[in-house]
Amino acid sequence: MLTTKKNQSIELLLELEEKIFSKQFADGWDELIGKVYNAKMLYYDDTLIGYYIIENNYLYSIGIIPEYRGKGIGNTILEQIVKPDMTLHVFVNDEKTINLYKKHGFEIVKTEKNFYDKDLDAFYMKKQR
Ligand SMILES: CC(C)(COP(=O)(O)OP(=O)(O)OC[C@H]1O[C@@H](n2cnc3c(N)ncnc32)[C@H](O)[C@@H]1OP(=O)(O)O)[C@@H](O)C(=O)NCCC(=O)NCCS
Repeated sequence: MLTTKKNQSIELLLELEEKIFSKQFADGWDELIGKVYNAKMLYYDDTLIGYYIIENNYLYSIGIIPEYRGKGIGNTILEQIVKPDMTLHVFVNDEKTINLYKKHGFEIVKTEKNFYDKDLDAFYMKKQR
């Protein structure tokens, strides 16, 4: 069964972040540490499989560990958390994830150059009403 718990531990969050994101994106750790108590941890039965962070209706991050991807968990979580006018950033080349967000009603508002790092641009997306 899929359950959600409030995060209490920096170590757990960093451990997850390392499993979920490629090095390319995982170096914003100082920023992540500031959000540690905002993270919701996702468990499948007793196994920690992912997390998400929402701040002021901005989806800062969502991730599922590789072994549990492609099983519908991302879709299930997005159905539960997406609200009108919610915003997010996504890497411009991450076509799969962009399509997933579009499926949940997000549209690209603009491109932000060098958002993640030099030459790593992001789309800023917003959930339509
Ligand atoms: C994006 C992410 C959270 C989706 O979670 P998920 O549990 O794999 O999602 P689902 O199983 O519900 O599948 C969602 C869509 O992704 C596609 N998908 C299938 N297998 C996949 C895989 N191995 N990896 C990624 N996406 C996959 C599916 O086709 C599905 O499309 P559909 O809704 O049209 O069927 C997850 O892939 C992930 O953690 N990716 C790495 C981190 C990331 O990029 N996060 C988003 C940017 S912050």
